[in-house]
Amino acid sequence: MEFFECVQNRYSYRGAYKSTPVPRENMEKIIKAGLAAPSGCNTQTTSIIGIDDKQILVSIANIVKKNGFKGTLAPAGVCILTQEIPGYADVYFNVQDYSAAIENMLLAITALGYASCWIEGQITESEETQKQIADILKIPKNYIVIGFLPIGVPESEGKRASYKPFSERAWYNVYGSSE
Ligand SMILES: Cc1cc2nc3c(=O)[nH]c(=O)nc-3n(C[C@H](O)[C@H](O)[C@H](O)COP(=O)(O)O)c2cc1C
Repeated sequence: MEFFECVQNRYSYRGAYKSTPVPRENMEKIIKAGLAAPSGCNTQTTSIIGIDDKQILVSIANIVKKNGFKGTLAPAGVCILTQEIPGYADVYFNVQDYSAAIENMLLAITALGYASCWIEGQITESEETQKQIADILKIPKNYIVIGFLPIGVPESEGKRASYKPFSERAWYNVYGSSE
């Protein structure tokens, strides 16, 4: 898929997935796209766990569903972990770091013809949820679970969010100008 088409095609899919497996080769492309994202002071604070084990996926899907996630089970996913390592002094960039990694992965997922959804709010809204996922994935204490991206072939065309027009959010040269 052409890059700009891919950027415009990405959207949050919350519908059902086909059972078509996601080969490890594609999982690796997606994870490597995440790891290739920039990080503040090159601290590389983001880590990623690729998941294609059905039992683990069911456990995570049940947790996020309990928190209100409307989607269904995908045949694969990635869990995103962060470490609170300062860039310098007491300045932390780990949120920006994992956000860049997530967007890279969402674009890779879209480019490969899969659908996904950035699930963060419904994980970080409760420390208990983060802990439950950390326990399932055997994550050491120095990492924080911040998000999960389901990966799979969508059963249907999901609902697209509406975006404000270009002229309300972006300008040339000075605020409010189209020139
Ligand atoms: C930081 C962040 C957290 C998000 N958390 C969730 C979430 O927990 N559950 C969910 O269904 N969508 C979540 N989303 C997806 C947004 O709701 C979605 O990106 C937004 O509504 C725009 O729709 P689009 O992604 O289809 O363009 C999150 C997005 C971001 C950037």
